[in-house]
Amino acid sequence: MNFQQTLGGLKTAIDKELEHHFNIAIAQAREKDLLIAEALAHTKTIALAGGKRIRGALLCQAYFGLGGKDKKKILKAAVAIELVHLFLLVHDDIIDRGELRHGKATLHKMLEKKYRKKMTVDEAAHFGESIAIIVGGMLYAIANKIILEAGFSTDDAVKALTQLQKIVSLTIIGQSQDIAIEYSKDALQEDVLTMYENKTARYTFEGPLFVGAMLAGSSDKKTFASLSAYAMPLGIAFQIQDDILGVFGSEKKIGKSVASDIEEGKQSLLVVKAREFATSVQKKRLNEILGTKNLTQKEIAEFQNILKTTGSLQYAQDLATQYLVEGKKEIEKIILLPAAKKFLLGLVAYLEGRDI
Ligand code: IPE
Ligand code: IPE
Ligand code: MG
Repeated sequence: MNFQQTLGGLKTAIDKELEHHFNIAIAQAREKDLLIAEALAHTKTIALAGGKRIRGALLCQAYFGLGGKDKKKILKAAVAIELVHLFLLVHDDIIDRGELRHGKATLHKMLEKKYRKKMTVDEAAHFGESIAIIVGGMLYAIANKIILEAGFSTDDAVKALTQLQKIVSLTIIGQSQDIAIEYSKDALQEDVLTMYENKTARYTFEGPLFVGAMLAGSSDKKTFASLSAYAMPLGIAFQIQDDILGVFGSEKKIGKSVASDIEEGKQSLLVVKAREFATSVQKKRLNEILGTKNLTQKEIAEFQNILKTTGSLQYAQDLATQYLVEGKKEIEKIILLPAAKKFLLGLVAYLEGRDI
């Protein structure tokens, strides 16, 4: 089986379990509060409308690669890490004023639109965000409970859950850095890369591998060090690519508007480098377009063109490639069963040609 087939198989299995847990949560909520049940139902729609399940898959691979045998149990943990991801995305979409996720209305936007008839425009926006914030918290609580009740030994479950809380705290620090950088017009490359490390690499690559390894009962320091050395550069490359796709990708594939990051004024590596390399005329236009709402196609094209002609796009692509090379080199040092190692290698190849 090649990488895509293995990932596809895991995605199918994870999605089945994810749907099951959503159905339970929705049924339980329906007995107490219809609004939360409705919000959870929409979150389930978003979740199942897309998503690569990279985090869930990495968690499973680390577990099987270190000798774990119980597929049923580890799929539950994979669902939990994907629910943590969803919790972060629901909040991220409020922070980034995102309107679409996986091609569906984001949770806060769906609620805002639906309840607009009953409230003023401002009230509906606040209402949507308020409900989405608490539903995000609920997804995190459900994720923790799933790991606790999956049937792992208490020792392994406590270790994995402790790690998960650390991962989430670091991601929140990364999100805070992202928010703060957005308001500063003079961020440096190192600030942005530290932010990528915290907001993405930990919870997308390193964290799932660590949690999977812990649930397999591993406590070997060398194993964790080598998994980290592989995961962190990949995670940074992944976020650099996410920012490139956010501006240059196709809306159909990325499931959100290509204008949204620009309108939101995202200070990505692309923007930081473009500002550094730009002529004063280019810099003026970049600053005028970035952060402006309701951009025209022409303005988006102009923005893309500045990123290209300044060399910022090429710079970001090259840096992502360098990080992938760095991560790939570490694979040989990781002691894992062959199928899991093959997956880690396949993931690098997938990222090298990534367009989604
Ligand atoms: C999106 O992550 C958020 C980032 C950390 C860049 P993914 O691109 O893994 O999201 P899905 O789950 O596949 O949609
Ligand atoms: C995602 O950051 C990071 C987290 C959700 C923690 P982004 O804002 O870059 O991700 P997308 O582009 O909205 O998916
Ligand atoms: Mg976002």
